Amino acid sequence: MESKRIAAEQAVELVKEGMKVGLGTGSTAYWAIQAIGRRVKEEGLNIQAVATSVQSEQLAKELGIPMMSFADVDVLDLTIDGADEVDSGLHLIKGGGGALLREKIVAAASKQLIIIVDESKVVNQLGKFPLPVEIVPFAFELTVKKLRNLGCEPKLRKNGEELFVTDNGNYIADCEFAAIADPAALHDELNGIPGVVDNGLFIHMANLVIVGSADGSIRSI
Ligand code: 5RP
Repeated sequence: MESKRIAAEQAVELVKEGMKVGLGTGSTAYWAIQAIGRRVKEEGLNIQAVATSVQSEQLAKELGIPMMSFADVDVLDLTIDGADEVDSGLHLIKGGGGALLREKIVAAASKQLIIIVDESKVVNQLGKFPLPVEIVPFAFELTVKKLRNLGCEPKLRKNGEELFVTDNGNYIADCEFAAIADPAALHDELNGIPGVVDNGLFIHMANLVIVGSADGSIRSI
């Protein structure tokens, strides 16, 4: 977890006084929220934040990070979030933690999206990680069939015996494509299926990827 923490702490150095900041979701974003909380407490850093999940919002509140309402957001200065896969073109697969829709909404409102990962997330081609697709519960069986017709093996995500439900009340289909040759085209195809709310491909959204390694080194893409 050291590699995730150092990438997160490097990213948090980009947070400046007065910024409006988006807080990501997952075990790497956890370290970023911790580091922001520390800066708020120890340096008196004055920021306002929005979160990409109920879990991250709870953590931020516990740490005393000032939260703002989305009603007061036009543009965020910076969002720091994790990813499940990153390629050299800064395309991402996200949604392993089930928060892809809120993450994409917040990322799209941000001037800068900073992604923090460990080396295991950097790939030559996206697709080994099953692509999370958020679908509405209504007629989900039909939506899953449409997904299968695109050449993947969709599996509905479970939480124990029950279907996993996102913060938005939807389901997640994890779609095994093995390799995604054209991420932009697949993104549009998936979102063209009625019943699909959004998918975990983030195309041309990330501005910087900070990669932490187990030996303590950090590089960026
Ligand atoms: C949650 C996400 C996470 O950023 C992604 O799954 C990476 O998680 P972690 O930092 O725990 O490896 O997209 O929806």
